[in-house]
Amino acid sequence: MNNKIMENSNEHVSEKESFSMPRIGDKAPSFIANTTQGEIKFPEQFEGKWAILFSHPADFTPVCTSEFITFGSLEQKFKEANCNLIGVSIDGLYSHIAWLRTIKEKIEYRGMKDVEINFPLIDDVSMNVANKFGMVQPGESTTSAVRAVFFIDPKGIVRAIIYYPLSLGRNFDEIYRALIAMQTADAFKIATPADWQPGDDVIVSPAGSCGVAKDRMDGKDVDNCQDWFFCTKKISKEDIEKEIKK
Ligand code: BEZ
Repeated sequence: MNNKIMENSNEHVSEKESFSMPRIGDKAPSFIANTTQGEIKFPEQFEGKWAILFSHPADFTPVCTSEFITFGSLEQKFKEANCNLIGVSIDGLYSHIAWLRTIKEKIEYRGMKDVEINFPLIDDVSMNVANKFGMVQPGESTTSAVRAVFFIDPKGIVRAIIYYPLSLGRNFDEIYRALIAMQTADAFKIATPADWQPGDDVIVSPAGSCGVAKDRMDGKDVDNCQDWFFCTKKISKEDIEKEIKK
């Protein structure tokens, strides 16, 4: 594994301390873990599918509870996009079970209630998974994971990483948008511009030669070129949906 060693000069952490985390393009670290859905072997068990491995600081805390209700409500949508969700925190299995039962039985958030969490939530009391993925960031907390989100593709490669601090609940529409954008980029060999949503114009990769630059300006394989390096084309929402549901 090609992990980067990062030095943290934050005042809470001695300069000698370091931690490793996978980077975009690295193979995701492998692990075997106990979860609320039984043992999982990662990433082998998820080959051929996308996975979102995300950490939360602690069970029975309010921001995390709002996040789980939201992610739990969206699980089917992620499944339909060939993506499995996997949660992790530095809590034990019985705490996870009790918390998920409480969420289903008692908690309502933004009209979402009676939400059953069917995706695996990893018992990581040993911090094995959190440490492998650099989810414990001592300047924020030495005992709990920050809100990390790792997007791992069907070949087990880390494709995107988002980190949020303890106090900030994540935007799950953005997590879904990022997943669909990467799947669209892979399927159609394009890139997606700022704030892109399925159905919006996509970016055609910049011309790598004068000939291609001319072709682009002549309108070949593009719908619009504002200049030779800024060309877009249309891909319908329906065509994207066909690709991601394969
Ligand atoms: C929360 O989920 O509410 C939370 C967890 C850890 C620190 C701060 C807030």
